Amino acid sequence: MNFSKELSVGNRFLDSEHRQLHKMINEIISLIEAGDVAALSEAFALLEIYLSAYFLDEEQIAHAIGIDFTRHRHTHQEIQSELKRIKDAVIAKNGNCPEHEKDNYIDTLRYCLFKHIKEDSRPLKILLDTQLYDFKPDNVTAV
Ligand SMILES: [Fe+2]
Repeated sequence: MNFSKELSVGNRFLDSEHRQLHKMINEIISLIEAGDVAALSEAFALLEIYLSAYFLDEEQIAHAIGIDFTRHRHTHQEIQSELKRIKDAVIAKNGNCPEHEKDNYIDTLRYCLFKHIKEDSRPLKILLDTQLYDFKPDNVTAV
């Protein structure tokens, strides 16, 4: 997946966070391909930390524009469990997963992010498009 303008959700900070997530997921994909389990544990740990901060930023932006975040919050929980499932599975096999399993994890990781940006974030995008691209509530620390 290339990070194109088509994947914009209409907000500079969230787009930049999505771009960073895309980078981190690509890194994880390379490590799954390489079977580098030590680097993979570290990359997943960093991703989890980054995701928690991103989820919070997104929730604060949604709150500031009056979106009911209940459903979206649920999709965040699903993403976190899916990531954990993949991490645990790859680590349990010490990185030596059969190719078809690796392919499956890689497809799932790509799909998770793509779906989250394109589908789960659609209601958010509709309202964000009515705001300035630089819109950011004071309590959002996104960089
Ligand atoms: Fe989200």
